[in-house]
Amino acid sequence: MTPDDVLTELTALQAGDLPTHGGATMAYVYDSGRAEIEQLAAAAQGAFQWTNALDPTAFPSVARIENDLVGAAAALLGGDGTTVGTLTSGGTESCLLAVLAARERWRRRGGAGRPRLLLPVTAHAAFRKAAHLFDLEIADVPVDPVTCRAAPSAVAGLLDERTALVVASAPSYPHGVLDPIGEVAALAAAAGVPCHVDACIGGWVLPFLDDVPEPFDLSVPGVTSLSVDLHKYGYAPKGVSVLLTGDPELRQEHWFATAGWPGYPVVNPTLAGTRPAGPMAAAWAVHRWLGTDGYRQLARQAHEATRALAAGIGRIEGLRVVGDPVSTLVAVAQDGPAGVDVLNLADEMAARGWLLQPQPPFAQDGGDLPATLHLTVTGATAGRVDALLADLADAARAAEALPRPVADPGLVAAAAAIDPRALTVAEVDGLLELAGVGGGRLPGRMAPVHALVAALPRPVAERLLAGVLDLVYRP
Ligand SMILES: Cc1ncc(COP(=O)(O)O)c(C=O)c1O
Repeated sequence: MTPDDVLTELTALQAGDLPTHGGATMAYVYDSGRAEIEQLAAAAQGAFQWTNALDPTAFPSVARIENDLVGAAAALLGGDGTTVGTLTSGGTESCLLAVLAARERWRRRGGAGRPRLLLPVTAHAAFRKAAHLFDLEIADVPVDPVTCRAAPSAVAGLLDERTALVVASAPSYPHGVLDPIGEVAALAAAAGVPCHVDACIGGWVLPFLDDVPEPFDLSVPGVTSLSVDLHKYGYAPKGVSVLLTGDPELRQEHWFATAGWPGYPVVNPTLAGTRPAGPMAAAWAVHRWLGTDGYRQLARQAHEATRALAAGIGRIEGLRVVGDPVSTLVAVAQDGPAGVDVLNLADEMAARGWLLQPQPPFAQDGGDLPATLHLTVTGATAGRVDALLADLADAARAAEALPRPVADPGLVAAAAAIDPRALTVAEVDGLLELAGVGGGRLPGRMAPVHALVAALPRPVAERLLAGVLDLVYRP
């Protein structure tokens, strides 16, 4: 084969993928809509793809790149001369490290028992993963069922001597709304507990907007760390995020150093050993080229499109926008008992070429949250708002004609009796076959699958979801 043959094969593999460009895939990807940004990013990534950011003494260029990006993030997000940070591989790793640092600090300060993480239910799942990996107990903070913002009164009630960290989002991924950061951080500070602001998805947008309702960054008293992803609205390729803190001691809490083996002395600021420098260099290049003005333009364009989209969705019968979308995310819910089922709507939109991400209904104290569709709006979607609204209106009428997806009561009853921890991989394969998703084949219409997942006990649903990917990942 020639290299061209190989590349042709790779390109052919992509034929089954959702488009990464064009603004119709409204989750997972961030398309600025400007090809020249991507050309620059690709060139910078190519120049650094063999460099190992593991050792900045061997590759001082990487230290420069990291320091410049951390400095830029700090300047944008309320940092000052004491702010330090770490580049990570993405939002999840930034959140993991924030939790790890807080746990280490809590232990160092004599915390006894199992540390707790106070987590609004809308905080990104990465924090649930952190609690799982680093053995913290999660205390769920309910959100207001109308605004979907974390309830400060619940934070006040849950803070105790076992609390290692409180989290708030700017904004939350599921609904795109801003938690009351000032109130939450003040409560945490009064209890001597660190507070992390997860601005992974909004941190490179909100600072450029005029109408953000309240401060949310490191300048807010009580905020001790903040995460922001460059591979989202920094329009860098996948693999780069920033974790900031005003407290250099706190940063040390997630670093790892060992001289305890016969190999090279190891210092790892992140979870990885070898660290790809390519995405860092690409982020640096895009940042250097766009500068504050370039980012402001892109952020405002996406934000204005989001506002127009939210207003338009509000005019479609049977649909409503959840809460106040402050940034560039929108969550769409069924309006009233006779409104449009959004799981069916997602299938109808998929048939029209749009990915709107289904989010199942969620039970919580103080009022359940409805099923929603999540829309991440970027520059590429901005030029297509009218087309999107027209397709949504059409899809809403088509979805109304469909039966509402309900889980098979027999399957749900059988699942309730299952102990998911006792299931073998083969047994999970068998259950998935019964549920109609055997062999990793997903049906054309996903609404019934989402309805089933929502109706199952969470541990059973989680085991079956892992089972689906287990089937997908078989050579
Ligand atoms: C608020 C928030 N936090 C964390 C993450 C996790 O980021 P990543 O997917 O880069 O690991 C996301 C991803 O969308 C997010 O929106």
